Amino acid sequence: MTTRPYIVGNWKMHGTRAMLAEARAIDRAAERLLKVEVALAPPFTLIHATRKEANLIGIGAQDVHAAEGGAHTGDISAAMAKDAGAGFTIVGHSERRADHKESNALVQEKATAAIAAGMNVIVCVGETEEERDSGKAEAVVGRQLTGSLPTGEGVAEKVTVAYEPVWAIGTGRTPTVDDIGAMHRHIRAKLVSIYGEEGQGIRILYGGSVKPDNAAELLAADEVGGALVGGASLTAESFLGIIVAAAEAQDEKS
Ligand code: PGA
Repeated sequence: MTTRPYIVGNWKMHGTRAMLAEARAIDRAAERLLKVEVALAPPFTLIHATRKEANLIGIGAQDVHAAEGGAHTGDISAAMAKDAGAGFTIVGHSERRADHKESNALVQEKATAAIAAGMNVIVCVGETEEERDSGKAEAVVGRQLTGSLPTGEGVAEKVTVAYEPVWAIGTGRTPTVDDIGAMHRHIRAKLVSIYGEEGQGIRILYGGSVKPDNAAELLAADEVGGALVGGASLTAESFLGIIVAAAEAQDEKS
């Protein structure tokens, strides 16, 4: 099975309308790089405007509330994010797990709600440095997958998993290619145990300090189907460096 690499930019809490020019430039360039599937997750406030600026790339949210609606001041439901133009949402990012004390069970509820609203989901998992150093990384990620992934008929095709070691996010440090390959194989096995054969088709992205100069190497690791990119997705110049690296890696495979 050959699938296009999926490169997703997560703008986190960055961006005002001044950044729409970056989204436009990324979208224009993506037209020439059709071997790569490109998406951006801007903050909620820019979803609608980004969708209007960008015709080709996917646009997603960074989170949604688990409820359909109601008395949840300051929150955004999946249906609202979708209405604004988001085709997918990230859920369970380690920053939300840490900042908002989100549990695996809550992440699973959010993923289920997003799929029910007609969106795809990127479910994030990843161990802390302490967990890696004490040899618990695979066990932790395994538990996160079992606890956070949505289940049910027809769900697997809506799911992408992002493996993001917490200690690699925004730090400039990355695991070795061998370590990434080993974790992605572990995740693949877990996906097959959860979803059966359909688990083979789920894309597993690597995230954490992906940059234009390390993207080719990281994307070549076993079972890596793309990247979730934070800091380096904030300018068209650096994000396009990663997208071009992904397109070239795709050329080498074919
Ligand atoms: P980073 O963030 O690329 O800035 O390390 C990745 C992420 O948190 O999705």
